[in-house]
Amino acid sequence: MMFISASRSRHTNLLPATACFVCLLSCLSLNAELPFGSQKCVFILATGRSGSTSLMDALNQIPHYLIRGETWRAHGNLFDAYQHLCEARTSPGQEFFHFANIRERYIDVKLAYGKLAETTKLPFFNEFSEDRILLATRAYYTVLYGHYGKDVVTGFKEIRYVCGELYFNQTRCGEHFQKFVRFLRGMCHDVKFLFNTRLSASLESNVKRFQMFNNATFAADFTHLLNETHTLYDNYAMQHSDHAFRVYMEDMFNIKRNATLARNLLQFLGEDTTIPIRFNRMPGWQPSYPTP
Ligand SMILES: *[C@@H]1O[C@H](CO)[C@@H](O)[C@H](O)[C@H]1NC(C)=O
Ligand SMILES: *[C@@H]1O[C@H](CO)[C@@H](O)[C@H](O)[C@H]1NC(C)=O
Ligand SMILES: *[C@@H]1O[C@H](CO)[C@@H](O)[C@H](O)[C@H]1NC(C)=O
Ligand SMILES: *[C@@H]1O[C@H](CO)[C@@H](O)[C@H](O)[C@H]1NC(C)=O
Repeated sequence: MMFISASRSRHTNLLPATACFVCLLSCLSLNAELPFGSQKCVFILATGRSGSTSLMDALNQIPHYLIRGETWRAHGNLFDAYQHLCEARTSPGQEFFHFANIRERYIDVKLAYGKLAETTKLPFFNEFSEDRILLATRAYYTVLYGHYGKDVVTGFKEIRYVCGELYFNQTRCGEHFQKFVRFLRGMCHDVKFLFNTRLSASLESNVKRFQMFNNATFAADFTHLLNETHTLYDNYAMQHSDHAFRVYMEDMFNIKRNATLARNLLQFLGEDTTIPIRFNRMPGWQPSYPTP
């Protein structure tokens, strides 16, 4: 297995997890259980100024949790990359190759390419199967987030997966949302989502978020798009209560409701409900960070 030994020798100074990915690349299929990488992940999708940083901090009070903050929509870009790589498989010229039979052997791939290259231009040539593309995205996630081992629950929180933001196309938000969430579910063995917003999508409730945009022409669409986002979050959480949970900011900071929310949250995550977490450990919102 030339590919594997070559990769191995090149990557011997990398993390064990990385080396492991490389040596397992050849034998995993799409539905195979991953014997490595990230076991349990929690992704917080939120609308800005809805307490998502405090929510992240509450989770990070659980001893074996490490949820990371904003990455400027990096996972959306990763999804784009995944989609482009998958699309490339059906691009012009790819029908000449039957990679299912030949892709694992370097010599066969070279041979198949060489046979055609003299007579046909092959700008889209690549032998990336869908399972390999998925594995590459898992490797990306695990090398960045999951490298403390399978007992650590990792995740990210991000406020950019909202209808009308660049990433979720305004006219096809629902479709884009569903696809993205499905993609994220493939990232780890066990993926749980927290959808965090204010209770209402009204402008009054979301003035702070509105101010992030500093764009008055956006006002008409603002509540409409936020409402659509709330609805997507609501429906998804209702239909998938095993892996999705709704968190309203008002509950986090209401003295009568915050303890119940903390307990329900821990229960949803499958953790000991007596672990002490609180939503108000961090200082309040400070307008000192740059906004996108
Ligand atoms: C959103 O989708 C519509 C319809 O497919 C398309 O015409 C438009 O260019 C897209 N906008 C962006 C920003 O991707
Ligand atoms: C969204 O809009 C609908 C219809 O106007 C309304 O009934 C609903 O309460 C709104 N949802 C939120 C979260 O504001
Ligand atoms: C205001 O926001 C809307 C929606 O995001 C955008 O299409 C428009 O270009 C923005 N206008 C300015 C002046 O930034
Ligand atoms: C709920 O709010 C009270 C009062 O601010 C605070 O003492 C307590 O720690 C909070 N509990 C949680 C789970 O955030």
